Amino acid sequence: MARHLITSAIPYINGIKHLGNLIGSQLPADLYARYLRGRGHEVLFLCATDEHGTPAELAATKADKPVAEYCAEMWTVQSDLAARFGLSFDHYGRSSSPQNRALTQHFAGVLADKGLIEERMETQMYSHEDGRYLPDRYIEGTCPNCGFESARGDQCDNCTKQLDPVDLINPYSTISGSTDLEMRDTKHLYLLQSKLKNDIEAWIDSQTGWPVLTTSIAKKWLHDGDGLQDRGITRDLDWGVPVMRGDAPWPGMEDKVFYVWFDAPIEYIACAQEWADATGGQDWARWWRTDKGADDVRYTQFMGKDNVPFHTLSFPATIIGSDEPWKRVDYLKSFNFLNYDGGQFSTSRGRGVFMDQALEILPADYWRWWLLSHAPETSDAEFTWEAFQTDTNKDLADVLGNFVSRVTKFCRSKFSEDVPAGGEYGDAENKLIADLQIRLTAYQAAMDAIEVRKAAAEVRAMWAAGNEYLQAAAPWSVFKVDPDQAAAQIRLALNLIRIYAVLSAPFIPTASATLLSAMNTMDMDWPDDMDAAARALPAGHPFTVPENLFAKISDEQREEWVEKFAGSRD
Ligand code: 2FM
Ligand code: ZN
Repeated sequence: MARHLITSAIPYINGIKHLGNLIGSQLPADLYARYLRGRGHEVLFLCATDEHGTPAELAATKADKPVAEYCAEMWTVQSDLAARFGLSFDHYGRSSSPQNRALTQHFAGVLADKGLIEERMETQMYSHEDGRYLPDRYIEGTCPNCGFESARGDQCDNCTKQLDPVDLINPYSTISGSTDLEMRDTKHLYLLQSKLKNDIEAWIDSQTGWPVLTTSIAKKWLHDGDGLQDRGITRDLDWGVPVMRGDAPWPGMEDKVFYVWFDAPIEYIACAQEWADATGGQDWARWWRTDKGADDVRYTQFMGKDNVPFHTLSFPATIIGSDEPWKRVDYLKSFNFLNYDGGQFSTSRGRGVFMDQALEILPADYWRWWLLSHAPETSDAEFTWEAFQTDTNKDLADVLGNFVSRVTKFCRSKFSEDVPAGGEYGDAENKLIADLQIRLTAYQAAMDAIEVRKAAAEVRAMWAAGNEYLQAAAPWSVFKVDPDQAAAQIRLALNLIRIYAVLSAPFIPTASATLLSAMNTMDMDWPDDMDAAARALPAGHPFTVPENLFAKISDEQREEWVEKFAGSRD
């Protein structure tokens, strides 16, 4: 069995994530990890918080806390929400960890030794009032091209002209509003990515079967626009990984830190080290070093499309440039965006549904099911309350929930709370089993290819097949004339509940656990052979009737939530 390393893009620390963030990487990564574990593979599933950079510093200032304290608190909040959403990370790390600090400094040292780092002088805007250098997007002013008064330092939103902060007329800090700005010369480290272009291109070209979304973005960045230009990897900030050359000071760089996008992907490796340290005795190198066994690992990354250039070009530049035997990504699954009710989800504007709010109104499985079955794979998707109500009511309550409820309640009332004995599976039963075997193959193919919507459709079809069988078999009528045959029908249906629990667990792990416990079994064996799986729970095996598995969302609830989430969060 192959070993699988899975990473999700690591979420920024500044604030609770919204559902668009969740479906863009962490949730589908969890689906895949759970599926592979279910099939018996060894999996290491890692995620972490992305803690450095100006947004983290500003969020801490707003919360009136030292940045380290703010990050530690937000890590706890995010980690708790992840657990409540059933995200089954083997480790939820922090990019501010000592392991990541050491590894980031290590990479910088090695890249410098290889002649891939150069010092360059830059001019940057310093704000006296804010006491900091301002990244381009925190400077606004009048556009020299069109006169628009709120043009950003990197681009004018009115005429789209690319700008440099020095071009702006009457520039001011968007943090404090101050115009007391000064252009200062400051020295920074550049990673000479242009020297690695051929190697990176050859590596990307050697990948077969990557999603079109992934390769098209990578190629676009390689060939046009700002693509693979040398990249500044240091910043004049307080909070971050201090710039050092391995263990040694880096002359002239004493007050600087590495750019957040330099150290964040390195956290994928450091996170495995954190996991090994936390568990004591685990070997991180067999997952990450090809000279230590990681050649056997299949490594899959999950991310939103905005992250693709950093994962196809920047991080590979670090890895390839080091010339050290690090594991490279085998498959890079990227997602489009999920929009919210006619607009965008927005963290800064508090628009949409955020993870904590979602769990206040419904259990995680409702969200997991809807988001995964509408994953924005081929195009952007949209969350609307109407669709959410209609789809979850139908799939979870009418199809799966109803099946479970009818079967268990009927058995309890006509037989007992034991799997009934008597009768044999006949043509209708064998046909259902054969159909499910075919569906299972399709389900596995979709999951293996990480086609999330397709996999959801196959699970839904398996639930529906059970319902259709039950409707046609009508054990409630058969019972009156042939109780033995009705017993065989119900025996199959009860076995289906266990099979559904196993196959649906990657999507709805909590409901799946409820079903298994109702079926009074710990048997999570994958139903490779449906014939055998359809007989796993023998006659006489006790069960209980689960409480209403999925309550329906009422029109009143939907209206209340539309209202509640209409404004911004703050
Ligand atoms: O877009 C984001 O949320 C980033 N924090 C993702 C970083 S992924 C990685 F490379 F670490
Ligand atoms: Zn303009």
